[in-house]
Amino acid sequence: MTFVTLNNGAKMPIVGLGTWRSAPGEVTEAVKAAILAGYRHIDGAHVYDNENEVGEGVNAMISQGVVKREDLFIVSKLWCTYHEKHLVRGACEKTLSDLKLDYVDLYLMHFPMGTKPGKEFFPFDKDGKVIPDNSDFLETWEAMEELVDAGLVRAIGISNFNRDQIERILKKPGLKYKPANNQIECHAYLTQEKLISYCQSNGITVTAYSPLGSPTRPWAQAGEPSLLEDPKIKAIADKHGKTTAQVLIRFHMQRNVVVIPKSVNPKRIKENFEVFDFELSKDEMNTILSFNRNWRAFMLEWASNHKEISIECRILKIYKSSLLHFAT
Ligand code: A2P
Repeated sequence: MTFVTLNNGAKMPIVGLGTWRSAPGEVTEAVKAAILAGYRHIDGAHVYDNENEVGEGVNAMISQGVVKREDLFIVSKLWCTYHEKHLVRGACEKTLSDLKLDYVDLYLMHFPMGTKPGKEFFPFDKDGKVIPDNSDFLETWEAMEELVDAGLVRAIGISNFNRDQIERILKKPGLKYKPANNQIECHAYLTQEKLISYCQSNGITVTAYSPLGSPTRPWAQAGEPSLLEDPKIKAIADKHGKTTAQVLIRFHMQRNVVVIPKSVNPKRIKENFEVFDFELSKDEMNTILSFNRNWRAFMLEWASNHKEISIECRILKIYKSSLLHFAT
């Protein structure tokens, strides 16, 4: 097993199991299959609506003696509707009670934006615009720092933060804990070289989500690029006697980037972990980096009117429309 070291000294296994869109009826078995296959890192979030079932899998493996709690690395995320300071601790406690754990190893702010508190995960107004709350993520961060001091979480981090947003946290007066990790969309079509280098040079590890390009995302459109079917990546995989998915995963590991492929299929869960016995050459790494086209599986359009997201959405929309224009 390979690890990256967080700025709290903890070791984070470089490959973890993603659980976004893992159905509650399937994810318990997926988590068990992953731990039996050797995974020690499970990535989840309150908004995935399956933490109870993730916890079932984790606890079954602990109680059966397959693994000890201290050998696991469990990640969860604070959802946007809990950004107001007084809501943060309760949100974390709900996650811990769903997972049936005393602590998580890493707790991430899922997005740099707060939205209206309440039962709905995605609060929209009558015009379909997301309703912001009154929080600023610097205050939310302070409440997350308190979770470390209370022993509910071992480390805190961020997700979907850009460089300016990270800089705001790092420059925050009275900052107690620096983010340990930034979890971002990253793959061969969105290589994120600048952001990764900025994070790593500031002691912030990076986790890549959607390493396989999230092929079953509900909003996928015909004609969008497919990482798993890319013949150039397949050619590299063939040279190593590996699958395209394994090359896409290995690509991150060799950049010291943590990677969390999602699967609920035991065969693919195993396949995605058989990535420690080969190495991509420098040329192959550079070739994969050259596939970058700043393509995103997650356009965050649902939040495009929020002040923390809007600028990037506008840039992406312009970029996307120019691509469409180019394609026609
Ligand atoms: P499944 O859960 O049925 O295995 P990402 O991690 O980029 O979000 O991609 C996850 C998607 O890719 C899921 O739909 C998952 O389906 C599928 N997937 C996971 N591992 C593999 C693999 N090794 N080969 C092909 N598809 C995979």
